[in-house]
Amino acid sequence: MSLKSIQKEREYTKFVVDERLCYYEPSKNKTEKTFVEELSSSLNQKQKSIHPKFFYDKSGSELFEKICKLPEYYLTRTEISILRKLDDKLSAYMDEEFRLVELGSGSSYKTRILISIFEKLQKRIEYFPIDISKILKESTTTLLDDYENLHMTGIIDNYESGLEFVKNYDDKKNLIVFLGSSFGNFDYEPGLRFLHKINSSMKDGDLFLIGLDLVKDTNILEQAYNDSQNITAQFNLNVLSRINSELDSDFNVDKFAHYATFNDSKNRIEIYIRSLENQIVNITKAGIMLEMKKGELIHTENSYKYTIPKIEEMFSNTGFRINELWFDDKQYFCLALLSKNG
Ligand code: TRP
Repeated sequence: MSLKSIQKEREYTKFVVDERLCYYEPSKNKTEKTFVEELSSSLNQKQKSIHPKFFYDKSGSELFEKICKLPEYYLTRTEISILRKLDDKLSAYMDEEFRLVELGSGSSYKTRILISIFEKLQKRIEYFPIDISKILKESTTTLLDDYENLHMTGIIDNYESGLEFVKNYDDKKNLIVFLGSSFGNFDYEPGLRFLHKINSSMKDGDLFLIGLDLVKDTNILEQAYNDSQNITAQFNLNVLSRINSELDSDFNVDKFAHYATFNDSKNRIEIYIRSLENQIVNITKAGIMLEMKKGELIHTENSYKYTIPKIEEMFSNTGFRINELWFDDKQYFCLALLSKNG
C-alpha cells in the first residue's frame, strides 16, 4: 500500500503544530465505531472481555504513569536501568542515520534516554511516535521544547496502521522500539502475528528493540499487579468509567473489583474485573444490556512473562535474528535487539 492510500484509507488529518512537530489522526467517527463494535462483540461472549487498548484514555494513561512509579511495579524501573546502560552497546549497531519509531510512546520518559543516545550520533533526529492515546500530543510538545534538533511526526492510531504508515514513508533506516511489557499483552498466536507484522514493515538494516518481562517468583509477579495503594485497581476499573462517559452507560464502579492472578501453566498474569453483585448495566450507544452475575469476571488483560528459550523460539519463528539480549542484574527483565533475518 502506498503512503497516499494508507492516509486515505484511515482518513488521516494532518495537524501542523510547529515546523518540527506534526501529527496525523484518523477521523473521529471511525475510532468511535470501532470501540462500540469491539465492545458489543467482546461483552457478548461466554467469557466477557474488554480489550486492554481501551485502558488508555487520558485518565487511564495518567493512572498508568502512576503504576510505573509504584514500588511493587518493578518493570518500568528495571527496564530503565537496562536502557541507561545501553549507550555504546546500541550505538555499535547504528552505522548510519536512523529514525526513532516508537510503538506506544506513553510519557516519553524512556524515549529521552534513547534520544540522548541518538544525539551523540547525529545532528538531526527524527522521532515518529505511534500511540492510540492523545497523551501523545502533550508528550511531543514537551519534547519539542527540550530538544532543538528533534523533528517529530506523531501518529495517533493503532500499531498496525502506524507501522503501515512508517513502512511506506521513505528509505531512511528505522529503529523501531516497543518498550514496557506491552508485547506481553498479546496472546501467543496474535503476538507471533504482530511480530510478523513488524518484521514485514522493516527494511533490511532496520533495527527492532523490544522489552520483555521474565518469569520469576510468583509473589513478586502478583504484587506488581496488586499494589498496596490500589492504583492498579483504579486503573483497571477506569475502563468502566471510560465506557460510561463515551458510550453513555451506567456502570457503578463501586459494584466492581479488580482481580489479578498468576497462571503458572501459561506463564501469564491474568487481570479481570469482578462483579460484586447480580446487576444489569445499560450501554446505550452500543445497544447493550449487560447482565452480570455476582462473582462473574470480565477479562481485561493478560501479561505474559517469558523464559529465554521461549524468547529465542518466538523470534526465530517470526523472521528475526537476535543481535543482543540485555538484562538487569536480577534477570527480571530483558531488552532484545533484533534485525530482519534476510
Ligand atoms: N502492559 C502492562 C503490563 O502488562 C499493563 C499493566 C500494568 C496493567 N498493570 C496493569 C494492565 C493492571 C491492566 C491492569 O505490565
